[in-house]
Amino acid sequence: MGFNVAVVGATGAVGGKMIEMLEGTTLPIDNVKLLASARSAGKTLEFKGEELVIEELTEDSFTGIDVALFSAGGGISAKFAPAAVKAGAIVIDNTSHFRMDPNTPLVVPEVNAHALKGHNGIIANPNCSTIQMMVALEPIRRAFGLSRIIVSTYQAVSGAGAQAMEELKIQLKDAIHGTPLNELEANILPCGGDKKHYPLAFNALAQIDVFAEDDYTYEEWKMVNETKKIMEDDSIKVAATCVRVPVFSGHSESIYIEVEKDGVTADDIKRVCADFPGLVLEDDPANQIYPQAINSLGRKETFVGRIRRDLDDPKGFHLWCVSDNLLKGAAWNSVQIAEQMYQDGLLKK
Ligand code: A2P
Repeated sequence: MGFNVAVVGATGAVGGKMIEMLEGTTLPIDNVKLLASARSAGKTLEFKGEELVIEELTEDSFTGIDVALFSAGGGISAKFAPAAVKAGAIVIDNTSHFRMDPNTPLVVPEVNAHALKGHNGIIANPNCSTIQMMVALEPIRRAFGLSRIIVSTYQAVSGAGAQAMEELKIQLKDAIHGTPLNELEANILPCGGDKKHYPLAFNALAQIDVFAEDDYTYEEWKMVNETKKIMEDDSIKVAATCVRVPVFSGHSESIYIEVEKDGVTADDIKRVCADFPGLVLEDDPANQIYPQAINSLGRKETFVGRIRRDLDDPKGFHLWCVSDNLLKGAAWNSVQIAEQMYQDGLLKK
């Protein structure tokens, strides 16, 4: 007998990929329930060639559900995840709402699957940019220790949701038809609510989410705090600059690290990265081989390359890390958590 799985936010950019990942999962599935707002209720989406009718999310949606994948925003998770847990479901939440709760495991299966066994019904899926950075850096941390991380991200618009993608498409069309770039209509980015909005087309926005403590954005704080939680080490120094770029999908990151061990070479780092599950080394400067966002699309792995020693600090290294933010950064990591829990005997009927 298989599991009954609910997707909350099924019509969204991540929700659609969750459905796709569930189609290929090794998790035995009996039924999939698609949940979204009243706006989408009654519409259909395909799962394994079958049309499934989308239902409106309510507190009663979770009767008989074993696993609920949430990706409909933090407010929805705050309100409905407890109802899902009460109904007996395991919640795997893609929003930031529960990530820093000490009673909620924050998991990248290749890195800290062991944390799953401490769950209380909810498992948090980390921030997309954090997930790929963890996959790239965990083999280095295990082999050589990590004392410092400085990361700059080049994040795709799909991380901001389906409406933000649509807005970028319109901006690109309008710009090509002659609208001056600073007059393009913008209602969504860099963050929602009553804040100012700026066009992303032919632009780069050094703001993802709202500004917070010490003039770092929440997205940047997420990368700092989540890294320490996942790596279970508060002493790692972490700083991030998160930038939205006009790429539809595939996040890229320039990462500077300092290792603890003496005498580590770039080849040592390449070797441990090449051997790590879920990580693909693409690093051949002579042949112009390095990870690219467009090549990561549809892939579950994280890609790393441009690994080179810092010119001044012998313990410092630079690398370039790319992944499909909707897959490893969101939908795949969530489904992979469910698969891992099943393998570990943590998901039971
Ligand atoms: P809907 O399409 O019905 O609005 P994205 O992150 O791509 O913007 O997607 C957000 C997802 O969250 C969509 O599936 C959206 O459904 C869903 N959502 C938004 N508000 C609610 C709500 N109040 N109840 C349930 N689902 C919601």
